[in-house]
Amino acid sequence: MTVTLITGANKGIGYETARQLIHLGHTVYIGARDVERGEKAAAELGARFVQLDVTDDASVTAALATIGSVEGRLDVLIHNAGISGGGIVDGPTALRVFDTNAVGVVRVTEAALPLLRTSQHPVVVTVSSSAGSFWAVTNPDRPEFGLPATLYAASKSAATMLMVQYAKAEPGIKFNALEPGFTDTDMTAALGMGGGRPVEESAGTVVRLATIGADGPTGTLQDEAGELRW
Ligand code: NAI
Repeated sequence: MTVTLITGANKGIGYETARQLIHLGHTVYIGARDVERGEKAAAELGARFVQLDVTDDASVTAALATIGSVEGRLDVLIHNAGISGGGIVDGPTALRVFDTNAVGVVRVTEAALPLLRTSQHPVVVTVSSSAGSFWAVTNPDRPEFGLPATLYAASKSAATMLMVQYAKAEPGIKFNALEPGFTDTDMTAALGMGGGRPVEESAGTVVRLATIGADGPTGTLQDEAGELRW
């Protein structure tokens, strides 16, 4: 049985990814900040719940300790938790956005590494964004070119770079970042960006990278069509 942890999975793309991976036979741990919402989501899905706030070291350490004591290993780690920052650009918002979207990836990865190293085929996936691709945001033919998302985009560049650096530092583990596609979730609704596609489609890219084989890629940024440029 493949043991999988998904951060921020009580709703949105993370919740749907959990549903699809459970369907494929994974034992899925939903990491969520709020105990009530996390337990409710886990019960609906047939998943397990761990309290996990990616900005809180103690919470992250405790969540991975729980998985370690119950499962003895972790096969798939999906960094899905993320915030937009609401389009505000100032110091406190920058700290919050980078803490969640980039530092959170470091916190959870570092806490998970000992468990990932005990897996036969460990995989780490970060739900990043093409808004963090220098190629996309400087290309007038791409929608990211006109996207006003200063802090979000910069934090997602960092998240993607972390996958590239971890892929080099840990050759025994697959690390990839992805753009799920513009999706109708609470995040995009709160920004007044209606019209995204359903989570069912976007989670497909997360599932594809979470289930790559031993000969699969590492250190890449991908979307549904394959590799994306940096
Ligand atoms: P969402 O708002 O529905 O889900 C975000 C999840 O992250 C929520 O469950 C939230 O509680 C959780 N979260 C936020 N801060 C957290 C923290 N400190 N600790 C633990 N969990 C935390 O939004 P959505 O769209 O499902 O976002 C999922 C990921 O997909 C995010 O990383 C987002 O940046 C990324 N993404 C979304 C796109 C879209 O069009 N919706 C496009 C590109 C990337």
